[in-house]
Amino acid sequence: MSYPFQIKTKEAYEKAYQQSVSDPEGFWADVAEQFTWKQKWDKVLNWDFKDTFIEWFRGGKLNITENCLDRHLEDRGDTPAIIWEPNDPESRHRILTYKELHFKVMQFAHVLRNNGVKKGDRVCIYLGMVPELAIATLACARIGAIHSVIFGGFSAQSIADRLQDAHAAFIITADGAYRGNKDIPLKSTIDDALTTCPFVRKVIVLTRTHTPVSMIKGRDVWWEDEIKNVETMGNPYFEAEVMDAEDPLFILYTSGSTGKPKGVVHSCGGYMVYTTYSFVNVFQYTPGDVYFCTADIGWITGHSYIVYGPLAAGATTLIFEGIPTYPDAGRFWDIVDKHRVNILYTAPTAIRSLMSFGTDLIKQYKLDSLKVLGSVGEPINEEAWHWFDENIGKGKCPIVDTWWQTETGGIMISNLAGVTPSKPSYATLPLPGIQPVLVDENGNDAQPVTNDKGETIVSGNLCIRFPWPGILRTTYGDHERFKQAYFSTYENKYFTGDGSFRDTDGNYRITGRVDDVLNVSGHRIGTAEVENAINMHSGVIESAVVGYPHPIKGQGIYAFVVTENSHVHELNKDDILQTVSRLIGAIAKPDKIQLVSGLPKTRSGKIMRRILRKIAEGETGNIGDTSTLLDPAVVEDIIKNKL
Ligand code: WT7
Repeated sequence: MSYPFQIKTKEAYEKAYQQSVSDPEGFWADVAEQFTWKQKWDKVLNWDFKDTFIEWFRGGKLNITENCLDRHLEDRGDTPAIIWEPNDPESRHRILTYKELHFKVMQFAHVLRNNGVKKGDRVCIYLGMVPELAIATLACARIGAIHSVIFGGFSAQSIADRLQDAHAAFIITADGAYRGNKDIPLKSTIDDALTTCPFVRKVIVLTRTHTPVSMIKGRDVWWEDEIKNVETMGNPYFEAEVMDAEDPLFILYTSGSTGKPKGVVHSCGGYMVYTTYSFVNVFQYTPGDVYFCTADIGWITGHSYIVYGPLAAGATTLIFEGIPTYPDAGRFWDIVDKHRVNILYTAPTAIRSLMSFGTDLIKQYKLDSLKVLGSVGEPINEEAWHWFDENIGKGKCPIVDTWWQTETGGIMISNLAGVTPSKPSYATLPLPGIQPVLVDENGNDAQPVTNDKGETIVSGNLCIRFPWPGILRTTYGDHERFKQAYFSTYENKYFTGDGSFRDTDGNYRITGRVDDVLNVSGHRIGTAEVENAINMHSGVIESAVVGYPHPIKGQGIYAFVVTENSHVHELNKDDILQTVSRLIGAIAKPDKIQLVSGLPKTRSGKIMRRILRKIAEGETGNIGDTSTLLDPAVVEDIIKNKL
């Protein structure tokens, strides 16, 4: 497999970037030519950010699994597609070659069909990090069903919300999942979710942990039994469904600043082209390299850069079931040496957490196979960057700091490993095809200013002014919300929700969300969601949730909660935590809960989050003007009792 679109020099990057701006259609058509299409497109791009429609490769017909699997069989059929490292290092790892993966995906596509799944149906996948998660995902794509993968850490209520939103009638899960020294009972969580989802017709259950499960007759079937049925059918071949380039490939839920999580919809054609293009260029993947992305497939990073991008590129992608600290904090390094990993893509929160264990463990490993390191999920602070560079990369591996979002489908701003320069804590330059702009509150281009170090920078809200193939196409079932969330703040631009500045060399440094979205350990959480959950707790009158700097997680969650005095039971903070866990999942549990007598509000009743944010950040000497508050005394009170 060769990649004609792989950029190998700084000059080639500049040339590609120029071409992608002056002739985007020609540029992306050339890239798209490198894929297997059942029928070529009529038009490369149709778009209007005002009317909010975006179409790439219209008229093109394809199946992404033929690009991820079938087309590799001849040249690299016996090459490992997936290396799977189990939670327990003493258990055997598994390798699936492209031939084997192709076979298993087709087998499971038969299982889906035998269970009534058809093109366009929504299938929810709730599994741990086992190879079957990738197999199930690809089998959905093979049959043209729209997968909605739900991270294993979400609660029954969150699952039910997502099942209802997408009206998903099929579920693929397991008896349980191993994570460190815990067994997570996946099926029983699904059972709880299903009490409010009577439309679910089939639940396919994989055996993993042998946790006891209840199987409902007619609804629940075992993965293994279904595979046996397929085996008796004889011919395992499963013809890939013909998909339009713009048909939805999957839905992935993510948090916004208001309401419930929204279902981000990605397309078959553009998403495939963009994830593959960005994978090959950012990581400078070379055939034969072993690539290890430590994310969970339940998040976009796993969709784009464990499954689709790497497999479409014919890469060897490593799937790790466990956690970085089990059985000890050397686990990542153990995996790197054991499987001779060449490219390691992880998150700042993982790096910071491993930093705290010191470097003794690291010295037990060679780490000499590593060539490229990557970071994603939040701004990487300089200290973590240098630690990663020195202790893991041994000063020899370029680090790519990749900025992107669930909505963007793939990496948007990043250096290209060893090709374009890195700059600690900067995501650096946009990929070809990406046209970022920094705007002020009025939507005008932000103007250069001199910062306190005497450098000239431009600072503003980060927007993108031209479509790229990986952009989301809608939010599931609610196109108006899509329009509102991304295209209404600034005319004719996609608004990312992030603030950023840019140096005179054009390098971007993302500073974080400017909306009410938190980034906790790289997980995106809406403050409104957490507040709604807290407010459900009996005895709570109202609450306000803000983020504050946290040494490991990046941001921690600080909740200010007003409770009823008359409540008979004294309100227990642990009860509130339990409620949040139940309604959203443990990842959304506040780190701090302060019970307060009232929240700072304007006369019109709006909560002044700005003030609460300052208090949570510990900047109590600098909370600004409180004269417009209905009752300035509440602020004094909150400060006095600050946690
Ligand atoms: C938000 C998107 C992209 C996959 C993982 C998260 C923040 C992400 C970086 C980075 C600074 C980053 C942004 C963005 N973010 N990567 N390299 N530098 N910030 O996807 O859950 O959709 O979150 O994560 O704030 O908006 P997500």
